Amino acid sequence: MRTPTAGVGATAVVVAAARAEESRRPDRLFHDPLAERFLTEARKHSTPEAVEVVRHPMEHYFAIRTRYFDDYLLRACAEGCRQIAVLGAGLDTRAFRLEWPPGTRVFEADLPEVFAFKEPVIGAAGVEAACDRVVVATDLAADWETALLRAGLDPGLPTAWLIEGVLCYLPDKADDEVLAGVTRLSAPGSRLAGEHVSHRVFTDPVARPMLDALESVGAPWLSGVDDIGGWLGASGWASEVVDLTDPAVHHGRINPVDRERITAGPTRGWMFQARK
Ligand SMILES: C[S@@+](CC[C@H](N)C(=O)[O-])C[C@H]1O[C@@H](n2cnc3c(N)ncnc32)[C@H](O)[C@@H]1O
Repeated sequence: MRTPTAGVGATAVVVAAARAEESRRPDRLFHDPLAERFLTEARKHSTPEAVEVVRHPMEHYFAIRTRYFDDYLLRACAEGCRQIAVLGAGLDTRAFRLEWPPGTRVFEADLPEVFAFKEPVIGAAGVEAACDRVVVATDLAADWETALLRAGLDPGLPTAWLIEGVLCYLPDKADDEVLAGVTRLSAPGSRLAGEHVSHRVFTDPVARPMLDALESVGAPWLSGVDDIGGWLGASGWASEVVDLTDPAVHHGRINPVDRERITAGPTRGWMFQARK
C-alpha cells in the first residue's frame, strides 16, 4: 500500500489526524472512526515532521470546518439534492458516516495516489458506504470534468459541490478553471461550498512557519482570493461568506479575545456556501 506522506496527498493525512482527534472528544462535533484507521496506516510509513508542524495549530480548525461542511451537505440533501461532488476529497469519509437519503450519489475526486492509500484502508475496515459512492482518480489541474462525467456525474441534476481545503494548493489560474468547470457542470439549483484565504497569507509572519512546513513536504500553498464573494459572483454564484473563525464561535470552540486577535491579523480566510 502506498502512503501519501509527501506532496499534496500528505495534507489529507493531516486532516484525518485532526478528525481522529476530534472523534475522541466527549463533546465531538462528528464521529469519524475511519480517520483513526488512516492515521494508524500512515504512521506505519512515517508521517513527515513537517506535517506535524501544520497539524497542531490547525487541528481544531479542521474539526470545525468538517462540521460546517457536514451541515452544508445534509442541508442540501434535506432540500432535495441527491448528487454530491467532493473535489480534492482526500481522506474524507462523509460517504460512510453521514445519513444520506436513499438515492444519493457521492463522487469523490482526488489524485490517484490518494485513493491508492485510501481504498485499501476502507476495504480492510469492511465498511459499506451509506450512499452510492463513486471514486474518481483525477487531477484538478487537468481535465477533471471529463473524468467526472465518465464516472457518471449527471450535469442535468443539481449538484452540491464541496471544495474543502483544496483551492490554496492550486495556482490562481487553476482555481479559476475549477470554478469555471464547476459552473459548467452545475444545473440550476446546484450549490457550492468551500474555503479560501486572501493573498495576504503569503506575507503574514504568523502564517510563515506553516507555509514553510507545507512547502518542505511538497505541498506549498499557491493561491488566494481577496474578494471571495466577488469571485463567486462573477461566475453567477450568490454566496454567503463567513470568516474562518465564525463557526468556531458558534460551537464554543474559540473565545472572543482569541477571535479578535486572529481576525485583527493580516491574513483573512473564509468559508463559503453559494447557490446557482
Ligand atoms: C488538505 S487536503 C483536504 C482533503 C479533504 N478535502 C478534507 O478536507 O479532508 C487537500 C486535498 O487536495 C488534494 N489535491 C490537491 N491538489 C490536487 C489536484 N491537483 N488534483 C486533485 N486533488 C488535489 C490533495 O490530494 C488532498 O487530498
